[in-house]
Amino acid sequence: MNFIDTHTHLYVEQFDQDREEVVQRAIKSGVDKFFLPAIDSRNTEDMYALAAAFPENMYLMTGLHPVSVPEIDYEKELVFIEKELEKRKFYAIGEIGIDLHWYPESVEIQKEVFQKQIQLAKKHKLPIVIHCRKAFKEVFEVLEEEKDEDLYGIFHCFTGTYEEAKKAIDLGMKLGIGGVLTFKNGKIDQFLHEIPLKHIVLETDAPYLAPTPHRGKRNESSYLINIAEKLASIYELPLDEIAKKTTQNAKAIFNI
Ligand code: NI
Repeated sequence: MNFIDTHTHLYVEQFDQDREEVVQRAIKSGVDKFFLPAIDSRNTEDMYALAAAFPENMYLMTGLHPVSVPEIDYEKELVFIEKELEKRKFYAIGEIGIDLHWYPESVEIQKEVFQKQIQLAKKHKLPIVIHCRKAFKEVFEVLEEEKDEDLYGIFHCFTGTYEEAKKAIDLGMKLGIGGVLTFKNGKIDQFLHEIPLKHIVLETDAPYLAPTPHRGKRNESSYLINIAEKLASIYELPLDEIAKKTTQNAKAIFNI
């Protein structure tokens, strides 16, 4: 039984002491493909180093995280991303989007940078990986403007309502489902069974949002199994069926 972690930040400093063990632990538990979303140019080298250490297992993304947009020279970052795209293989533009929890005042700039990166993804025929926090309205506005057959990807850490889920799917997105699914107050477990499994991919978002029973601790990719088990109970399917289907979905999006 094999799983894909479609969103994991295993290259960040929280794993500096035991990165190798964390990756091996995940592989042993059946999670053997890892998609690494970019944050900004400050941790690109660490991300590439991890990919070089596990070339069979790691898949890179490039992009500028919305929380980095107000913190960094974003125009320079966009030029950097375009240059990187010429240099090596990436499987998505991510994570990109809008975060109004941390930076509500920079909404207009975040929207602009999000839109520019979507256009870049389309130009390179790549999927996008969306980060959306307290910004469904704004994210949907941009997606509506960019909607066409080249727009597709993953709505990462999806925690919206049933209506928002349907809307995201209509706009070409799969739902990235992570630890929140296992939370008592997570809400998405209430309606997820109404969403066909073909629209779902699994993710940890490690080191953040560890699933129950690890909630509150550092998350890691081996915990993807806890999320998959919860998904299996919601869809009333055996775990290996969840593994098979979500792996198929992830492979189709990332074109591997
Ligand atoms: Ni992330």
